[in-house]
Amino acid sequence: MSARLQVLPQPEPAPRAPEALGERLLAVRGLTLRYGRNPPAVEEVEFAVAAGELVSLVGPSGCGKSTILRAIAGLHRPERGTVELGVARRALGFLFQDDALLPWRTARDNVALGLRFAGMSRREARAEAEAWLARLGLAGLGGRYPAQLSGGQRKRVALAQVLALRPRLLLMDEPFAALDAIVRQQVTQELLRWVEREGIAVVLVTHDLEEAIALADRVLLLGQGPRARIQARHPVDIPRPRDLVAVRGHPAFAPLYRRLWRDLSRAMGREETP
Ligand SMILES: Nc1ncnc2c1ncn2[C@@H]1O[C@H](COP(=O)(O)OP(=O)(O)OP(=O)(O)O)[C@@H](O)[C@H]1O
Ligand SMILES: [Mg+2]
Repeated sequence: MSARLQVLPQPEPAPRAPEALGERLLAVRGLTLRYGRNPPAVEEVEFAVAAGELVSLVGPSGCGKSTILRAIAGLHRPERGTVELGVARRALGFLFQDDALLPWRTARDNVALGLRFAGMSRREARAEAEAWLARLGLAGLGGRYPAQLSGGQRKRVALAQVLALRPRLLLMDEPFAALDAIVRQQVTQELLRWVEREGIAVVLVTHDLEEAIALADRVLLLGQGPRARIQARHPVDIPRPRDLVAVRGHPAFAPLYRRLWRDLSRAMGREETP
């Protein structure tokens, strides 16, 4: 298993009793994060995510989105504030901005490795890995090494690696940026179906406002850093299950897109219309 993917710091803190978090699998309170002596990158960030809920986090480049995800995963110690998980750390999946497959293992073995660590037999793990690769459009490529795959294919292997472990809380940092338009649509739809069916809680970081709306129940907009704060919170009032093509034609879609664009332009100190 890739060290950057699922191996999270030990010892594992006991998850809070479910009633303490309510339906929420994640509660972030007053989160302030900094690097060294620099001013805090983000300040007083607050949000919660319930089981089955998908929250998109958007904001200008460098405002602290990846840092927030790393803090949630326990990879960055907060200056102030807390991250409470309603699941065990091993039920947390993290798809990083840059994929990190093991170059000396085939795609199949990259996916199977985490399953082996989770106690599956070699045969089962390989079969499960192949099934996930096929679901993500990579049937027949399981025997290839990462260097023999395109950037978009590697990204899908990394996604298969995370989803195969059946996370209950999924953190994703620009997961689809390297994919071409058609594959992106297919992979995103597959992911959405899986998330909706399994009731997985998701925090998705993306630069793509359309994607942010199409997938999410709520879009949170982070302002310009340093000391970035959440500047706007928009519920996405579009029923599930969603079809990623049809969702763009929903009457709530275009007005929300315009509002988000306006908010983002303001956050970056510009007034613009798309
Ligand atoms: N290891 C580090 N040391 C010092 N500063 C850092 C470090 N990593 C990130 N930063 C700074 O912290 C701020 C937030 O970075 P972060 O990577 O979280 O931004 P981001 O919102 O994910 O940006 P992008 O959209 O470009 O991925 C930026 O100003 C960045 O330069
Ligand atoms: Mg980032």
